[in-house]
Amino acid sequence: MSRPHRRGHTERQPHRRPAELPARPWEYALNTIATHQEQAAVPATGWWTEAVIYQIYPRSFADSGGDGIGDLPGITARLDHLVELGVDAIWLSPFYPSPQADAGYDVADYRDVDPLFGTLADADNLIAQARARNLRVIVDLVPNHTSSAHRWFQAALAAGPGSAERQRYVFRDGRGADGAEPPNDWQSVFGGPAWTRVADGQWYLHLFDPGQPDLNWDDPEVRAEFLDVLRFWLDRGVDGFRVDVAHGLIKQADLADWREPQEILSGQEAEKPRPPMWDQDGVHEIYREWRRLLDGYPGERILVAEAWVEPAERLARYVRPDEMHQAFNFEYLLASWTAPAQYAVITRSLEATDAVGAPTTWVLSNHDVVRHASRLGLPIGTAPRPNGIGVDDEQPDAATGLRRARAATLLMLALPGSAYLYQGEELGLPEHTTLPDEARQDPTWERSGHTQRGRDGCRVPIPWEADAPSYGFGPTDASWLPQPPIWAEYALDRQRGTPGSTYEMYRTALHLRRERGLGRGTLEWLASGDEVLAFRNGNLVVLTNFGAAAVPPPAGKLLHSSGPLDESGHVPTDTTVWVEV
Ligand code: GLC
Repeated sequence: MSRPHRRGHTERQPHRRPAELPARPWEYALNTIATHQEQAAVPATGWWTEAVIYQIYPRSFADSGGDGIGDLPGITARLDHLVELGVDAIWLSPFYPSPQADAGYDVADYRDVDPLFGTLADADNLIAQARARNLRVIVDLVPNHTSSAHRWFQAALAAGPGSAERQRYVFRDGRGADGAEPPNDWQSVFGGPAWTRVADGQWYLHLFDPGQPDLNWDDPEVRAEFLDVLRFWLDRGVDGFRVDVAHGLIKQADLADWREPQEILSGQEAEKPRPPMWDQDGVHEIYREWRRLLDGYPGERILVAEAWVEPAERLARYVRPDEMHQAFNFEYLLASWTAPAQYAVITRSLEATDAVGAPTTWVLSNHDVVRHASRLGLPIGTAPRPNGIGVDDEQPDAATGLRRARAATLLMLALPGSAYLYQGEELGLPEHTTLPDEARQDPTWERSGHTQRGRDGCRVPIPWEADAPSYGFGPTDASWLPQPPIWAEYALDRQRGTPGSTYEMYRTALHLRRERGLGRGTLEWLASGDEVLAFRNGNLVVLTNFGAAAVPPPAGKLLHSSGPLDESGHVPTDTTVWVEV
């Protein structure tokens, strides 16, 4: 018998990959061929270990004011949608005062709301209204860098070289006879050098936009300030923080040259050294201190790491029992749509987090990657980042993309652990792949010298009503990024109550997931071939067919499927079914 996932016991055995698979493994639904039950640490408990968390990108969710930019009152007015959908929590991307050099990930004041999005009173109201509906609220914390408009950075510019004010950031003299060369060869994630020279000749580091100077986390004032920012939002009642670029805060002390193209992902292949700007061991002490602070608050407040760190064992260090609660599983998001790749990444993810007693997380889309309904419509294996898709790029096949996205989602929502959804994916929303280049706002497009489209295509305001101005996003036609005409087909009001719609597929899945406790269940592999994956979680058997030919479903009662079965009742290609056994 299987035992529930994350009910800790002490022996750790390597996960078994079946040497030989049955020829038609889906016919052997009850013959477990591998059970995921090897845990080494005392498992965590709490709402977050199994929660479905919905990411709201405030500027694109709902615009109450009609200026074309979504806002906090707009979100509050739409909370009932999220209750109906059946999620447990929302995560809000930044809404703090900001020059918006990077859509708010350049924070000028960590303790207020940008007038674009509303007021602090609107934030309090949103938190209160969410709580009244049993929705938890997670806010974004951006500790790697401030905005260049932050009072600290302005003070650093004014105070000059060698000052305590400059100590809070990473200022250095340049190289070369007159210091006209940057201090090292690092490139910004958005393209171009990671250093900008200021009037007195010194340079400052920005791993992202020049409007996002990196903080110096060796400075005690920086540490004290962020503890205070955490308290500010905890006292206002938030349930947690999504920690932006959590793997970047500490840099290798010598700021050694890197000589590699700059990526946000710190892959750690054996033959390659770890990049000097990512995943340095010193970051963990910071999160331990934050965890102690959160643990002093009533309720279960959580920290979620946005850490582009591979392999999974290295990522799992962020979620050790005295550090963060969760980390985004980007290896899962990046995995190809093939049965072996999905089997491998799911297995590896569960093993790595089980070893530290943390829940695994699952995510397919967010505001930084091509939406999965489009990504999966490109040839299998196409990288989801950093490039967006432009009008002259290869266009995804919309039907294939949506079919695979629905299959991927249904597979994901049956996995034990916590799942993240990105606004609009419940509508099957594709990437805007023909966005006019002149409308682009992501700094990536300019800074890469127009070689990378960037992330605007996944950030387009979402459609609520097919026949309303801005598809119901706001009361006017204004929209900070143009919405494509196909948005009408995807609007919520076209899908609500329509059997077989993507929205109803999500709603049913989330309802069944909650009812059956799938998030806290156990995963047992039943089949992992080249074309079919099947696993069991409780009394549910989940089968995904990646192959071209239809396969018979597992015996039992069909509870849910990502698409129709064929005339003979078989599971067609790129389809997931949930069967009760
Ligand atoms: C994270 C955010 C991304 C932002 C970057 C810099 O990766 O998700 O949107 O551009 O950090 O803050």
